[in-house]
Amino acid sequence: MAASAPVTGRRIGDVILDVQNITLRFGGVKALTDISFDVREHEVRSIIGPNGAGKSSMLNCINGVYQPQEGQITFRGKTFRHMNSRQVAEMGVARTFQNLALFKGMSVLDNIMTGRNLKMKCGLLAQAFRLGPAEREEIRHREFVERIIDFLEIQAWRKTPVGRLPYGLQKRVDLGRALAMEPQVLLLDEPMAGMNVEEKQDMSRFILDVNDEFGTTIVLIEHDMGVVMDISDRVVVLDYGKKIGDGTPDEVRNNPEVIRAYLGAEH
Ligand SMILES: Nc1ncnc2c1ncn2[C@@H]1O[C@H](COP(=O)(O)OP(=O)(O)OP(=O)(O)O)[C@@H](O)[C@H]1O
Ligand SMILES: [Mg+2]
Repeated sequence: MAASAPVTGRRIGDVILDVQNITLRFGGVKALTDISFDVREHEVRSIIGPNGAGKSSMLNCINGVYQPQEGQITFRGKTFRHMNSRQVAEMGVARTFQNLALFKGMSVLDNIMTGRNLKMKCGLLAQAFRLGPAEREEIRHREFVERIIDFLEIQAWRKTPVGRLPYGLQKRVDLGRALAMEPQVLLLDEPMAGMNVEEKQDMSRFILDVNDEFGTTIVLIEHDMGVVMDISDRVVVLDYGKKIGDGTPDEVRNNPEVIRAYLGAEH
């Protein structure tokens, strides 16, 4: 699906994303305190922690929604402090949201198409009137989107308004919208929240397939520990905005500070 050659087997590569000493404050609230961790190419890297630990804030710093007061982030060797979401997206980082950000009245196909906007060269006016190159470009993008729809096994709903789909499928469409950007790094904020066991299994499989087949690096926030331990290469643990653990699933599972944080939390 992606323009680049498919990755055969999973080869964890060099550091692609390096988060260095990030501190983020909202007035008096310190959402993140001096957080550092790295993400290697082709890795599934999870961020876990109790509610309010700072997980979503961390993703918001990575994709330029929040500007941290301190620290910096290096993506593919390029260090940035103040980059906006569009610039980060153009560099190859896509994101799904904890609370879905889809257009409920629009079809599955058109929602996933919105993920192609960054890739479109022709202006909106030319597209609207389907003029020459714009028409050819739109056909190419639609073909790409159709491939994503096949990959995510949502062909039956391609023309259905997203608002009419069950929640689990909406989450899958949101993943499709992010995949349409052909990202090198995919940030997933609780892609399985509110799903039943079967839907979670499907979503885990899609995440692993994206990682395997396209070599996409995954940064995953997830509360379901079974899923996290199953599919992650390494896990960062946050609690009250501080990093309290970082390592393989086994290392994190046996870390006394992590166990303490989870015993004291409601999940
Ligand atoms: N835009 C904001 N304005 C003010 N405070 C915020 C903002 N975003 C996050 N916070 C605060 O930062 C802290 C971390 O929130 P965050 O949403 O990152 O946690 P989380 O780990 O994603 O939690 P959850 O598991 O519930 O999604 C919380 O105290 C939250 O209230
Ligand atoms: Mg969150």
